[in-house]
Amino acid sequence: PSVLILNGPNLNLLGTRQPEVYGSTTLADIEKLCTAEAARLELEIAFEQSNHEGALIDLIHAARGTHAGIILNAGAYTHTSIALMDAIASVELPLVEVHLSNIHARESFRHTSYIAPVALGQICGFGAQGYVLALQALKGHLVT
Ligand code: DQA
Repeated sequence: PSVLILNGPNLNLLGTRQPEVYGSTTLADIEKLCTAEAARLELEIAFEQSNHEGALIDLIHAARGTHAGIILNAGAYTHTSIALMDAIASVELPLVEVHLSNIHARESFRHTSYIAPVALGQICGFGAQGYVLALQALKGHLVT
């Protein structure tokens, strides 16, 4: 089975973006970690990033019939996008929400997630390792 790992706005800048918050790991590093863990779990992955809300929605729609589950770090759209929430609810694929930082320990506007109500669960605060944990958590819930 295949898992879509989807990254939202500004995550292309990881490595140089606010390293005191997000660390020095790049998105390419995270992709490598995910590729290795997916091989161990006998999963395939497609690793995507977009800064555009509509493009993320299109990728979620296209996941239906192509992927057995989704891992999503929606970046700041987490806290704003009812459209992303609706897209996830519409495709009925199991989804794990990931954040590098502990959003609950940060500004109050980051405490609300529109993704959480349509996710199996949320992993935040563990940096890049969160993606590995998400693959492990999702494995038992994939729709094949
Ligand atoms: C983030 C947390 C969001 O609040 C923020 O807007 C991001 C990154 C994280 O991975 O910690 O862009 O999703």
